[in-house]
Amino acid sequence: MAFEIKVNKISESRIAQFDENNIQFGRLYSDHMLIAHYENGAWGNPEIIPYGNLSLSPATTFMHYGQAIFEGVKAYKDANGKARIFRPEDNWRRMNKSAERMAMPDVPKEIFVDGMKKLIEIDQAWVPSCDGCSLYIRPFMVATDEFVGVRPATKFTFLIITSPAAAYYNKPVSIFVHDEYVRAFPGGIGFTKAAGNYGASMYPDQQIKKMGYDQILWTDGFEHKYVQEIGTMNVFFVIGDKVITPDLVGGTILAGVTRDSVITLLKEKGITVEERPISIDEIESAYRNGTLKEAFGTGTAASVAPIGKLTFHTEVMQLRPVEEWDTMNWIKTTLDDIRYGRIEDKHGWILHI
Ligand code: COI
Repeated sequence: MAFEIKVNKISESRIAQFDENNIQFGRLYSDHMLIAHYENGAWGNPEIIPYGNLSLSPATTFMHYGQAIFEGVKAYKDANGKARIFRPEDNWRRMNKSAERMAMPDVPKEIFVDGMKKLIEIDQAWVPSCDGCSLYIRPFMVATDEFVGVRPATKFTFLIITSPAAAYYNKPVSIFVHDEYVRAFPGGIGFTKAAGNYGASMYPDQQIKKMGYDQILWTDGFEHKYVQEIGTMNVFFVIGDKVITPDLVGGTILAGVTRDSVITLLKEKGITVEERPISIDEIESAYRNGTLKEAFGTGTAASVAPIGKLTFHTEVMQLRPVEEWDTMNWIKTTLDDIRYGRIEDKHGWILHI
């Protein structure tokens, strides 16, 4: 089915509120948003309208049972001031995997990708050009039946909002390896970008923040032995001359688009990447015998973020200064060079606006 994207532009842009020198993640939203409704088994035409509040019944399903999923994508500006989106089709595919698991409808590519392209075209002025900056794009879908009985909804709303972003973490992150709370089990929803995965992490997150840590590295729910992901990021360890990251088998980890890009580029450079279960014991012994060279997280919001400190029980693993790291610094620069158009996009990852 072909969709017509209707456009209703804001009468006066709010761009004057946007200061490139003072960007705070997720605080200021650009002029427009995209909205599309699903009802009676079909999507209606998407509309691009001025960013603003929604009016919803207090009985709206997602507010009660969390039938809600989202994605994170970024648009960058090249040296000529042209906007470009990084791998939106991959986020579209992942969103539909989340949708299936959460009993929600597939979002058509014409709405997700073409609608996003049109939205960024209209709000191009909001894509920052400062170093390391981007326009964070947040597509999401919520169940909108006006019904508090528990059943999969029949009505849904898909939206895309965007917000200027700078570096998500501005210093190496400190990580607490958790072996009390659990993020995901096989058979659960760990591989989805469901709102509930994030909601369930808030309490443990609050506890570790009080202890001075930035993020949790989750472990498996059976033995608390194998590391999974950080919640805002996938995780990589450089041990000896190999890069190791937890595999996606079992569906407990998000299949990050940045994760996939990093694995692809490292392998092309001839670096051995192992996707396999990695235990906290293996990480601790690599730290003790000096072979744990680097540890970093990857994600759309966080990009590639070094881990400065990793704590498990009483073992505080303090990593070398980041300036001495080869692998992470190379992958971060290479990925940024592709995103900002400084080197050729050999993989077809860029959608030009
Ligand atoms: C992203 O990296 O896009 C995320 O969704 C992580 C976080 C901001 C929730």
